[in-house]
Amino acid sequence: MSPLEQTDYEVFKIIAEERERQESRLELIASENFTSPAVMEAQGSVLTNKYAEGYPGRRYYGGCIHVDAVEELAIRRALDLFGAEHVNVQPHSGTQANMAVYFSVMNPGDTFLGMDLAHGGHLSMGHPKNFSGRIYNVVPYSVRAEDHRIDYDQLRDLARQFRPRMIIAGASAYPRIIDYQIFAEIAREVDALLMADIAHIAGLIVAGEHPSPIPHADFVTTTTHKTLRGPRGGMVMCRKEFASALDSCIFPGMQGGPLMHVIAAKAVALAEAATEDFRDYQRRVVRNAKALAEALMEEGFNLISGGTDNHLILVDLSEKGITGAEAQDQLERAGITVNKNSIPFDQLPPSKPSGIRIGTPAVTTRFMGPDEMRLIASLISRVLTNTADERMIAGIRNRAKELCDRFPLYVNDENGYNP
Ligand SMILES: Cc1ncc(COP(=O)(O)O)c(C=O)c1O
Repeated sequence: MSPLEQTDYEVFKIIAEERERQESRLELIASENFTSPAVMEAQGSVLTNKYAEGYPGRRYYGGCIHVDAVEELAIRRALDLFGAEHVNVQPHSGTQANMAVYFSVMNPGDTFLGMDLAHGGHLSMGHPKNFSGRIYNVVPYSVRAEDHRIDYDQLRDLARQFRPRMIIAGASAYPRIIDYQIFAEIAREVDALLMADIAHIAGLIVAGEHPSPIPHADFVTTTTHKTLRGPRGGMVMCRKEFASALDSCIFPGMQGGPLMHVIAAKAVALAEAATEDFRDYQRRVVRNAKALAEALMEEGFNLISGGTDNHLILVDLSEKGITGAEAQDQLERAGITVNKNSIPFDQLPPSKPSGIRIGTPAVTTRFMGPDEMRLIASLISRVLTNTADERMIAGIRNRAKELCDRFPLYVNDENGYNP
């Protein structure tokens, strides 16, 4: 019996049930993944006990010799992996990574250009209820109606008109390659700083499956838990000239004690991401996304931008007589997890949008391949065209479970994790 099972059976049971959910359902949320047991071991370690306000060699607490070593390791690995000049591995999340950059170079009321949330941007890029939308003057840019690619002409016009302090290149729901060089040219022309938020595509970038913003951007923020497949957390890279402003914005500016157990887990994930296995994994993520996109189109679905270059697909359900919210619910009942998502120029509100977002990072971690993607497309299609057929939905749930059983995840804690 584990210590948790012995002392707090309620929490133990919930974790066991969540583990069973992850094992037995098709996880297609584009921002989720399954970390390795090594990452979880570091995250579940005694490092959670340690206070370490400050930075390696400059802490406000004694006893930091070992946490200094692990933070230095994480820093070195991140710099090597991304080729950045400076990195801060302490942000607790992707939103805090973005906040740190904004606070380090913008004043309240300053203007930034960010991708319209309805066109793929993230909350932290200017949603009116998010700190970013409340503190700054946000000018959204969009994708083109005809091909759903970023409208770089509009971006240039807006930059010339509003002369922003910063331009943000990055998205939560954009299935195509982002051209950081054009972003940098536009930023340079209007004397704006460029921040790239690579939260979704960080893993693809380190594997060479998406161009890197590092040579072009002043700041690069990321989460560590999506395609990078590490623990839940954030990270910021920047040019040397911004290093001390950034570091002091994170501590003491925004955060207290860093989560040293999470930083250790980030170090483990960064080492995993430097391996050939990881590069192969990212190639398979992209290959699977393309296979899934093609199969969905053959099933008669409209995809935003007509396909994908990366790990995610945005399905436009507006001609299917079902909202994204209904589709998410029906698929959930059939053992397939996706999320509802606004599509560009959506006629419906974000709570009941016209689309769903589908990603391949998690199923690819289980080593599913193109054949399984084609099967998943047919299961999705059957669910979404027969939403009232309870027996059929139950049948699909069994098919989804069988598929998961063929690609087991955490078989046991010692060595069951496939990658
Ligand atoms: C592009 C982008 N930036 C930032 C974030 C925020 O990350 P977190 O949820 O860790 O705050 C996300 C999360 O989905 C994201 O997609």
